[in-house]
Amino acid sequence: MGALDGRTAIITGGGSGIGFAIAERFAREGAEVVIAGRSRQRLDEAVAKIGRGARGVPTDVGDEEQVQRLINSVASVDLLVTCAGGAVFGPVEEVRTKAWRELFNDRFFGQLSACHYAVPRMKPGSSIILCSGIAGHAALVNYAGGAGLCGAVNAMGRSLAVELAPKGIRVNVLSPGLTRNTAIDWGVPPEQVEAFLAGLANNVPMKRAGTTRDMADAAYFLATCEYATGMVLDIDGGWTAV
Ligand SMILES: NC(=O)c1ccc[n+]([C@@H]2O[C@H](COP(=O)([O-])OP(=O)(O)OC[C@H]3O[C@@H](n4cnc5c(N)ncnc54)[C@H](OP(=O)(O)O)[C@@H]3O)[C@@H](O)[C@H]2O)c1
Repeated sequence: MGALDGRTAIITGGGSGIGFAIAERFAREGAEVVIAGRSRQRLDEAVAKIGRGARGVPTDVGDEEQVQRLINSVASVDLLVTCAGGAVFGPVEEVRTKAWRELFNDRFFGQLSACHYAVPRMKPGSSIILCSGIAGHAALVNYAGGAGLCGAVNAMGRSLAVELAPKGIRVNVLSPGLTRNTAIDWGVPPEQVEAFLAGLANNVPMKRAGTTRDMADAAYFLATCEYATGMVLDIDGGWTAV
């Protein structure tokens, strides 16, 4: 018996990194898991690792019609986790506004449209976990547009939590800090990963990057704690505490 037996979970960005770790954890707890991302191959590999009847639905969350199709691929949604998306870094005078608009399209409107289509399919007791990042609370240099995005997602989560409480739907935001085994360290040669992450972890009181498992633990808490709503949960080794 798992805590999520009989529940259907849609996890965008579930093909890799944080979304994959959450999908794996939820499946282990008994949920029927549907993961979404753009690359069919990445989804197939993830589904094979997760097992337990998981399936993948190729989806670009920046395209509202594709999001609608994803949500309509299940009869009802008990858990919606929206981790899809990337990041853009650079000085404000160098990064074109277009790049930030695209980031907002995928990571803000992608999450909002997933909620738009999922809420009518959610029964009381269901839960939504949005994904932002600590830039919503801590100043990250060279990430002006991303910081605005994370703050916007945090605000959206609080607003939706209050709006949807009468329907018995909880809404929370998972706000990851520096997390290893994600796009952050993908391109780094294996022998350089530890030094690379140690450099980035300089601002982190715990002096290390988090793991995708840390993020999955937090998502599991948000999925199962029935009194948790309207929260922005920074899982960041203390970064936002200083
Ligand atoms: N890693 C960190 O340190 C960190 C810190 C703060 C916040 N975050 C946020 O956490 C979330 C998860 O990222 P991650 O770190 O786990 O990185 P990741 O491993 O790159 O995972 C992101 C996933 O999202 C999918 N994706 C990207 N754009 C998409 C789109 N338009 N439509 C559908 N799927 C899309 C990617 O698959 P495809 O390319 O196949 O579509 C990928 O599987 C992201 O929103 C990220 O910005 C991460």
